Amino acid sequence: MSRTTLAVALAAVVLGTACTDPAVGKTDRELYEAVCARCHGVDLEGGIGPALGPGSRAETLTDDQLRGVIEVGPGAMPSFRRLDDDQVDSLVAYLRRRQRDR
Ligand code: HEC
Repeated sequence: MSRTTLAVALAAVVLGTACTDPAVGKTDRELYEAVCARCHGVDLEGGIGPALGPGSRAETLTDDQLRGVIEVGPGAMPSFRRLDDDQVDSLVAYLRRRQRDR
C-alpha cells in the first residue's frame, strides 16, 4: 500500500467513526437533540421522560445530581456512561441555559 493510500484509508476510518457516533463533534444543543430530545422533547417539554425546563423538578437538582442522572440513568432512562465528562458538562450547561429562558 502506498503512503497516500494508507493516509486516505486512515482518514476514512477516522471520519467514518466521527460520523457514526451521534455524540461526537456537536454543539451542546446538537448533542441534547441527538441523545436526549426523543424522550425529553426538543424544547425540554417532556414526553417519554419528564420535562426538564423552567419550573421542572430537574431545575431543582444540583449540577452533580444532573451529571449523576445522565451517567446512571434512573428508572426507565437509559444510562449515558458512554458520554465523556466534557459532553456531560455541556449537557448540564445546556439544561441550565434553557431553564433560564422563561
Ligand atoms: C429513552 C428515553 C430517555 C432518554 C433518551 C433520556 N431520558 Fe432522561 N429520563 C427518562 C425517564 C423515563 C426519566 C424518569 C426516570 C425516573 O426517575 O423514573 C428521566 C429522567 C431524567 C432526569 C431527572 C428529571 C426529574 O424530574 O427527576 C433528567 C435530568 C434527565 N432525565 C436528563 C436527560 C438527559 C440530559 C438526557 C440525554 C443525555 C436524557 N435524559 C435522555 C427518559 C429518557
